Amino acid sequence: MDGNGRWAQARGLPRAEGHRAGGKTVRRVLGYCRDADIRYLTLYAFSVENWKRPKDEVAALMHLLVDYLAHEEPMLHEHRVRLRIMGRREDLPPEVDAALTRVERATAAYERQLILCLSYGGRTEIAHAARELARLAAKGELDPESIDEDAIARHLYLPDVPDPDLIIRTSGELRLSNFLLWQASYAELYVTPTLWPDFGEADFKAALDAFARRDRRYGGISATPSPQS
Ligand code: FPP
Repeated sequence: MDGNGRWAQARGLPRAEGHRAGGKTVRRVLGYCRDADIRYLTLYAFSVENWKRPKDEVAALMHLLVDYLAHEEPMLHEHRVRLRIMGRREDLPPEVDAALTRVERATAAYERQLILCLSYGGRTEIAHAARELARLAAKGELDPESIDEDAIARHLYLPDVPDPDLIIRTSGELRLSNFLLWQASYAELYVTPTLWPDFGEADFKAALDAFARRDRRYGGISATPSPQS
């Protein structure tokens, strides 16, 4: 969800206003996902690196999150969306953690998922999986020789969530910035210059159209070769 800061700066507003506008985009995008029958939406809301931002910006983001949960919980119920968190939640302020836990529990029975990455880093997540595996090996419950890709995947934060098909990055930046490093191996990437607060239905449809035209080979060869090949 990149570009909130630039969106605010362009209007002579404080960065926190950009994040507030970004919160409204989250609401809209949830609706687009519902209409397109997308079962998992993962949002990179706050990275492990984001703690380095000025204190007041971090505080504004945390406040916005609690505010968002308070206002959007009825909508999550209405659309039967389960809230899940991935990241170092032990880093989050206790009131944020409590608000998240409450909504996670209240929505736990729903199938469609909204996953918020909070204090999240892809490398941190892989290190977490390695630590869990090392603990099991140290207890004699795991043979190190048996550690394969599936074993690592089973020890990521949310092992039951499928790998993403499509990753959309707003604001034109051409990098993953430590997002879902393991899970993104075969994800299709789509970058739009649109800033996150401006991201609308036309942008969403353009991303899905681009995705539909991709030829996903997973290292193999095309299932439907073109006449020239
Ligand atoms: C990146 O833009 C965005 C963030 C670090 C925060 C994203 C948070 C929200 C949209 C609001 C809260 C989230 C929810 C789920 C309600 P940036 O600040 O790096 O923008 P810039 O690159 O233009 O400076």
